Amino acid sequence: MIAGFIQHEPRYLDVNWNLRLVDGLLGGVQADLLVLPELFATGYHFRSMDDVHSVAESVEDDNAPTLSALKEWSVATGATLVAGYVERHGSDLFNAAAVVRGGRIMGNYRKVHLFYKEKSLFAPGSKFPVFPVENSSGEKYRLGVMICFDWYFPEAARSLVLQGADVIAHPSNLVRRDCPRSMPIRALENHVFTITANRIGTEVADEEHLTFIGQSRACDPNGDIVAEVGRQDTGLSLFQIEPASARDRQITATNHLLNDRVTDAYVLS
Ligand code: ACM
Repeated sequence: MIAGFIQHEPRYLDVNWNLRLVDGLLGGVQADLLVLPELFATGYHFRSMDDVHSVAESVEDDNAPTLSALKEWSVATGATLVAGYVERHGSDLFNAAAVVRGGRIMGNYRKVHLFYKEKSLFAPGSKFPVFPVENSSGEKYRLGVMICFDWYFPEAARSLVLQGADVIAHPSNLVRRDCPRSMPIRALENHVFTITANRIGTEVADEEHLTFIGQSRACDPNGDIVAEVGRQDTGLSLFQIEPASARDRQITATNHLLNDRVTDAYVLS
């Protein structure tokens, strides 16, 4: 099936401009799965709580600009879209990713491992859900979602794979240099496809600069890189993946990646 990621440079709080940018990238595209960066329409390095509130959207609001655009793009492209946004739920705000297909929100993930100043802006999520989806030929597969800093915790990807994920969508706003070289390992150690969509550019808040490192990449279950872009590239990258090929987790005739785990020997806390 055709999968892809977008790497872009959003403008801080300029939701309409950012949505127009992505709309331009998706014009005429047909695909099965498209991953967009974390907080792709708002920017990341928030200067105040008011700024976060000003761009928060509720999944219940049919007029929410980012979620509405995602619904429209999912119909126009035929794809399942996974994209980061600020979710408002009651009085809580989450750094979330919506899973959108056929014009409706079919899943939502709330970032569990909050990075740095996110801890004072967002409530943490509490689970790693996996969503049953299908590609445009009707082939079913299972899609896990994690957001950016979740990569640092191997338990996140492993939790998704233990629930049957064939593909992990990974919307990101990476600032640390280690993630691009770690994602092939996450893919290999879990025998799963990973698709990391990152952004570029620099944002400033309280005189602190955060520079986003680009280098979006997709990896296959052998840990090989299927698609990658550089530190400054922007645009949509499309590539071919076959989710079903992630399902055979037999390592040798006598070893299985998941069945050979010795859970009694592991210390998890
Ligand atoms: C990050 O989690 N956005 C670094």
